[in-house]
Amino acid sequence: MQKVIDYLTTHNEQSIEQLKDLVRFASVSAQPEKYGRETLACADWLVRHCTDIGLETVLHQTSGNPIIVARVPRERVANPDSAPTILLYGHYDVQPPEPFELWETPPFEPTIRNNNLFARGAADNKGQHFAHLKAIEAYIRTGTPLPCHITFLIEGEEEVGSGSLYSFIEEHADSLKADFLFISDNGIPGLEHPTVTYALRGVSAMEVELTGPDRDLHSGFFGGAVANPAMELCRLMAKIHDDHGRIRIPGFYDRVRELTSEERESFRMLPETDESVKNLTGVPELYGEDGFTTYERRTSRPTVEINGMTSGYQGSGSKTIVPSKASAKITMRLVPDQDPTGALDQLEQFLKDQCPPTVRIKITRGHAGEPYLTSPDGPFATAARTAVEKAFGHPALIAREGGSIPIINEFRNCLGIDTLLPGLSLPDDNMHSPNEKFSLECFEKGKVMSAWLFHEIGVQVAGSRD
Ligand code: BES
Ligand code: ZN
Repeated sequence: MQKVIDYLTTHNEQSIEQLKDLVRFASVSAQPEKYGRETLACADWLVRHCTDIGLETVLHQTSGNPIIVARVPRERVANPDSAPTILLYGHYDVQPPEPFELWETPPFEPTIRNNNLFARGAADNKGQHFAHLKAIEAYIRTGTPLPCHITFLIEGEEEVGSGSLYSFIEEHADSLKADFLFISDNGIPGLEHPTVTYALRGVSAMEVELTGPDRDLHSGFFGGAVANPAMELCRLMAKIHDDHGRIRIPGFYDRVRELTSEERESFRMLPETDESVKNLTGVPELYGEDGFTTYERRTSRPTVEINGMTSGYQGSGSKTIVPSKASAKITMRLVPDQDPTGALDQLEQFLKDQCPPTVRIKITRGHAGEPYLTSPDGPFATAARTAVEKAFGHPALIAREGGSIPIINEFRNCLGIDTLLPGLSLPDDNMHSPNEKFSLECFEKGKVMSAWLFHEIGVQVAGSRD
């Protein structure tokens, strides 16, 4: 292992330069007209890079963005007949960078400040999966046999629901066969509190549009005699929660699996405080469901959120109208064992039932991704926790997180494998926000963690198979 770790140390500067090259691509999957070419160029760059470091790499075209599959050649694996196979997953697509004016330096011009690399996609997810890639490179370049087979899958549509990957996994189930999946596309509470995540929330999306008059009306002529769709939308949205932060949709909590007392106990070891969350978000006061801690609310309880609302006149000055339409984009974060389609059914029924007769309601459904939960124990979990501990120098805690990577369930359903997530991103990395960054210390530790992970899989899993 020393050779592998030394390689990572001596090539640190080089790997930062390479990561800068990777984040320079504006691979924004949500805006294909504007960024489609950059996205393809990013995939090409990754294919070349994976090939250069010695992986057997294939670029698979899809009806959306290409999927990259890169494998460690068999001859690089120690005891290849009995060695376990792990799958690693990452995504090269990124969130839209807007609003541009809030970035201190442009989103696709990587800049280092205070040992952080600022760029869209630096943390989510380029920096994190690149750390795994660099660990594999270190084994290959130092001639150190890998203790496990590794298949690295990198997709380009994660931020828009992984549309192409579902059928890809089904069609390539044989060649993707593995014993376990590891993903670093998530967070840790801090460098002194590294974690391995064993549960994520799911997410379902919907758009609601209310239409009143068939055009915007003069509010002096008609105001007071016709319902205002913007007002009605606000009223409707306000019915979703009660005063205790509970969701009022009938049946919504029926399938929610409660946290165990062991889980709640283990979360107490995490450093997060109400004060730290207040500081991170800038809110004047926290909010949430009665009876749960802030950490539980944002990781282990379901939510309904408005992501955007539109109605009426948005220009400068005033315009005296009753708008014709008002609409809201809504997503729900769901927890085990909620069903994302069932939750959409429940929300749709609730909104229709509550909608007044003065406006017409139109509902359009979006993606529906399942929540995930696995056991934080077992040989692969021990390997991950040991690797995290060795890299960060602190015991690995276990965590649930509130974000979603719904495709994990497809890997489970199709390939029968479980996933653990040794995250590398810090709470202030600004995933999806302006000024996204990745801590270069996390990058360094992430590469080392990944190198140890392969080693520990050798110890925990391969060893017992020989
Ligand atoms: N990296 C995130 C997922 C994540 C974030 C996991 C924080 C744990 C903690 C991922 O790129 C993401 O943003 N996923 C989307 C999924 C959606 C588009 C289907 C999300 O969570 O909003
Ligand atoms: Zn994301």
